[in-house]
Amino acid sequence: MTNTVRSVICGVGSYLPANVVTNEELAKTVDTSDEWIQQRVGIKERHIAAEGEYTSDLATAAARAALANAGLAIEDIDLIIVATTTPDYTFPSAATLVQMKLGMHHGFAFDIQAVCSGFVYAVATADSYIKSGMARRVLVIGAETFSRLLDWTDRTTCVLFGDGAGAVVMERVELAPGEPERGVLTSALRSDGRHWDKLYVDGGPSTTGTTGHVHMQGPEVFRHAVGKITDVVYTTLEQTGYTVGDLDWFVPHQANKRIIEGAGAKLGLPPEKVIMTVDIHANTSAASVPLALSVAVADGRIKQGDLVMLEAMGGGFTWGASLIRW
Ligand code: UT7
Repeated sequence: MTNTVRSVICGVGSYLPANVVTNEELAKTVDTSDEWIQQRVGIKERHIAAEGEYTSDLATAAARAALANAGLAIEDIDLIIVATTTPDYTFPSAATLVQMKLGMHHGFAFDIQAVCSGFVYAVATADSYIKSGMARRVLVIGAETFSRLLDWTDRTTCVLFGDGAGAVVMERVELAPGEPERGVLTSALRSDGRHWDKLYVDGGPSTTGTTGHVHMQGPEVFRHAVGKITDVVYTTLEQTGYTVGDLDWFVPHQANKRIIEGAGAKLGLPPEKVIMTVDIHANTSAASVPLALSVAVADGRIKQGDLVMLEAMGGGFTWGASLIRW
């Protein structure tokens, strides 16, 4: 009997910019209200990066926290993956800047662009690199300064997003036959580019030569979200033989409280198993899942042995889920 290679999450960390912007503050500059935002989306406040504070800075701070939580040094890492839609520069990748800022002069680093699904894509990618033997310990980071893509006069988008970063360390573990299972059990990734213009940024190096602003057909995205989320969740359960009843924690992308509650209800999950941080972080795109994870790990809800479902859905459309034995 051979050992089973698994990618185990051995450290979690996060970073949020100091500046907190409440709904009331936004209502002073755009035609919105705290009541509308809380009722329709469930957001109370969001963090916004300071001038001169970049995605790689947020990512580096979250990575340091995850390394400390794992009890590891940067020398122990051989791959850095940053999931982001808001890199500091068109190139090089945010990941290579994080590599430099962490003083890592070995290994390799790259970004993943899957918008809000970026962290789930990055977890699945890191898992593949670990299982193929190309990496042993991977820093997987979701980091965004999404505020830089917003048109602050457009009330239909500017109230929804925030900045932040979350990170995990994933480590190769060989489980002997009969040892309790741990690590990423499976991931399901999907995309469908026919929906690209339902949620997109109207700029880029090859089109306008500018960064552009976020545009979203909100109700259209909403209409697709619950079905796509539940589809990939069921795929991971079918692949592993587990059922919804076996899940200890559901850690969804934090875009809208009503989408999270809708997906939870469709799956038949009790609300107390659903990690919700959209109220204090808003939608931080690729950072939202690891930010929610780090809250639930730090407060002791997620603990070793728990069965944890991560999921996300966003621009592209992209969507995906990862089932993890903590
Ligand atoms: O992270 C990637 C995935 N993204 C998502 O999953 C987001 C999915 N979409 C959503 O979460 C929701 O569609 C939104 C939160 C974006 C919008 O909520 P909604 O319930 O779908 O509202 P709506 O767009 O249908 O707008 C309803 C009304 C409109 O007014 P009228 O036409 O009924 O008079 C909007 O103009 O609300 C108005 N409205 C606002 N009012 C106050 C839109 N934005 C605001 C605002 N404040 N900020």
